Amino acid sequence: MKNNPIVPYILIMAFGIALIFFMSLDGVGKQAELAEGEHGTTEEGAGGDEALVQACIGCHGGDLKGGMGPSLVGLDADHIVDVLENGIEGTPMTPGLKTGDEARAIAEYISSLE
Ligand code: HEC
Repeated sequence: MKNNPIVPYILIMAFGIALIFFMSLDGVGKQAELAEGEHGTTEEGAGGDEALVQACIGCHGGDLKGGMGPSLVGLDADHIVDVLENGIEGTPMTPGLKTGDEARAIAEYISSLE
């Protein structure tokens, strides 16, 4: 058995099989990553408006239907802009929370919700 000439070949074969095995595992991992990446991108593309209200959902709830703060669904866009720019005294709605185009975009988005 000592110095059997076949031993190195068996070792190389085992190494090769292990290598192929790990490479395919890595490939599966990358595929999953790619699939996730694509998924993430499409979600982001569709949810552009939702990104606007990330700053509000902490208090007004994930669907803006109320949490610590009141529901915003059904409010008039002009009213929302007014609250964002001028605030409501003595509440967490401080003046200038959002202003200008951003306030308008947020207000239009929220007032379009049902
Ligand atoms: C720190 C918590 C907090 C955050 C963040 C917050 N709000 Fe508010 N919001 C409140 C609370 C509390 C009230 C109720 C104030 C009151 O008592 O009148 C309120 C009231 C409002 C009102 C008036 C509702 C009405 O019926 O007149 C609007 C509009 C509003 N928030 C919009 C927003 C928008 C848009 C955002 C995101 C840009 C936001 N809020 C972020 C806590 C928050």
